[in-house]
Amino acid sequence: MVLPYTDNYERDTYGIIDFWVRNNFEHGEFFDREISHHELELARTNHEMVQRMGKIFNRAEKKTVDIGLLLDEAKSSTREFRELLLHTMDKSLKCEVIISTPVSLLDHMIREAEEAEKVFKLVETGTYISPSDATIHESNFWLRQMLDHLIFISHYVDASNYQLHDEVRAMTKKFENYFLQANSLKTIIRRPRGEVSPVLNTFNQMIIKEAKALEAFKLELSVLIKNCAAVTTAPPNLLEHIAREAHHLWKNLEDQVVN
Ligand SMILES: [Fe+2]
Ligand SMILES: [Fe+2]
Repeated sequence: MVLPYTDNYERDTYGIIDFWVRNNFEHGEFFDREISHHELELARTNHEMVQRMGKIFNRAEKKTVDIGLLLDEAKSSTREFRELLLHTMDKSLKCEVIISTPVSLLDHMIREAEEAEKVFKLVETGTYISPSDATIHESNFWLRQMLDHLIFISHYVDASNYQLHDEVRAMTKKFENYFLQANSLKTIIRRPRGEVSPVLNTFNQMIIKEAKALEAFKLELSVLIKNCAAVTTAPPNLLEHIAREAHHLWKNLEDQVVN
């Protein structure tokens, strides 16, 4: 199976905008399925944002538009979408909105929007981040997200899949430990950080291997869900979405960059 994100993953500015705006676009699509018909205004606003972000990543893909203008569009659409999610999460905490999206999933999407904004800023300013700072940042940010993905898989996969739930729980436990280790390394290896130390390198190599395995697991499950061969309420492209993020993590660790 040839996946577009695996084979044509270009890490130029267009490629970075494409990855992040597409990411938020798909969040909007997933969210769209989970808004009650009682929440027409929210559904409409979200739909408008999805359409706007769709146009932006299509333009990023073609690479014909001025990069400065495209970056401005990416920044403002991401900010607006983040604000919508934040506003919704706040309402959800007060039980003032009817949606089936868990608060932790809203928070997850908000954190990815914030990370997108951070990356856009880095691109814009051309800031250099050392390999050790970059890999520590990537592990701390993305391992939390990987951990959430496993929790969300449990949320969407039907309870009747007992064995799968056990396997996902075991993987969740493993990623909890990796996340805690990343968190420890952040303070064990303090700033200013020089070269990637042997300890950090060992950790990075382990996470690259584990993220590749997690990507493969998500893609296997993705095939079942797309073929409607698993009992689940997951959107058909959700597993591919989170597989792409696992890919993004190990690729950034290999390249030792934040993007
Ligand atoms: Fe995402
Ligand atoms: Fe995610």
